[in-house]
Amino acid sequence: MVGPANVQLMNIEGFRDLLAPDGQVVLAEAAASDVGESGLLATASRLRERYPADLVAAALTQVRLRERGRAKFGADAARMYFTPAGLEQSTRASVAKHRAKRFATYLPPAGRVLELGCGIGADLIARTREGVASVGVELDPLTAEVAAANLTVFALNGPASIRQGDATEQDPTGFAAVFADPGRRTARGRVFDPRSYEPPLDTILDLAGRVPAACVKVAPGIPHEALWGDAAAVRGPVEAEWVSVAGEVKEAALWLGELAGDVGRRATLISGDADPVVETLTPVPGLGDPQVRGWGRYLYEPDGAVIRAHLVAEVAARLGGGLADPQIAYVTGDALLPTPFATAYEIEDVLPFSVKRLRAELRRREVGVLTVKKRGSAVDVDRLRRDLGFARKAPRGAPEMTLVLTRVGRDPIALLAHPARV
Ligand SMILES: C[S@@+](CC[C@H](N)C(=O)[O-])C[C@H]1O[C@@H](n2cnc3c(N)ncnc32)[C@H](O)[C@@H]1O
Repeated sequence: MVGPANVQLMNIEGFRDLLAPDGQVVLAEAAASDVGESGLLATASRLRERYPADLVAAALTQVRLRERGRAKFGADAARMYFTPAGLEQSTRASVAKHRAKRFATYLPPAGRVLELGCGIGADLIARTREGVASVGVELDPLTAEVAAANLTVFALNGPASIRQGDATEQDPTGFAAVFADPGRRTARGRVFDPRSYEPPLDTILDLAGRVPAACVKVAPGIPHEALWGDAAAVRGPVEAEWVSVAGEVKEAALWLGELAGDVGRRATLISGDADPVVETLTPVPGLGDPQVRGWGRYLYEPDGAVIRAHLVAEVAARLGGGLADPQIAYVTGDALLPTPFATAYEIEDVLPFSVKRLRAELRRREVGVLTVKKRGSAVDVDRLRRDLGFARKAPRGAPEMTLVLTRVGRDPIALLAHPARV
């Protein structure tokens, strides 16, 4: 039975039946039916009148996953195959394409990539489309078959192939590079210790050390000490690229050996899916720390990838601004300048933090919709919203305000601001 809000567990036999000609007929019919919340049950019973229940369930599961997959893969999702976990863990097409281009640029023309844990094959597909041949190794037998089916869908078999097996037992000899996007989620939830990644990070790095180049995707929260310095887990030159999509930090990619460029850190911002726009920021040699100054007319909130890559000084320099507190990544300046690397706000008022004072100021301005942001503040935002009388939805058209909670030194500060359009 396919529940309205979820999808049924899949098995290999069911997936193979779906790929067979009879299964494809059911899948095509399911894809053309209403599988939304309200129509799903009726569609399932109608299809079950003519087709085996297991096949109908497998087809509906796949159609539901394809709908979900559209956010990451656009129109391709309607042709792809997924498992629930495989979709969840897969790299968004725009990010995979950006990464694939780097492989295509830096690897020798016939250089092949060994991918350790390829999942449903999103990165593998993107690289093959950029002309880079790969072998994808996948431990989970069903996921491996799903990845192979995806290669067939896009006619990428040949330059790309799937090996079902344990990545930790592979011999990378002869490959130009290793790529790994290890699982960071187990049955017990998200894992933070890279030794608990699947495959584990140290095993991946050992294999990576045996080929001329490598790329490993890790959690964006990876500490800089793990990458550079005496305690670093990574040996040799590494470039860490923090990637955000539409303002949300998605991953850090570690580029090693011949894939490492000539900078250590990079923030990459990707926006748009069909024709992604990629903006990239790297350290300015000799720049030093940003200046510390009083609040200017504008507040700039750097993109999370910029902050993770420790490139706030570069953004401040571009904006002719500085920091009000040297520890807090809010840039302030007097000029409104366009930048993809930060979101600009016009500061209306700078107040010492006080609930009573804020309530009075917001009431005086007849604010109806309040957006709260914070950095360097321990205030409980939900509670503050209630205390300020903003727990309920505001009427349409009510004046809007952005409240920024931060501090300068030990002093808690509240900024009243508006998004600024350049
Ligand atoms: C995060 S997913 C990869 C997603 C892939 N980059 C994509 O975009 O579709 C990690 C995959 O590694 C697989 N895996 C975990 N341990 C493995 C191992 N020892 N050998 C091979 N695959 C493994 C998991 O089954 C999972 O499918």
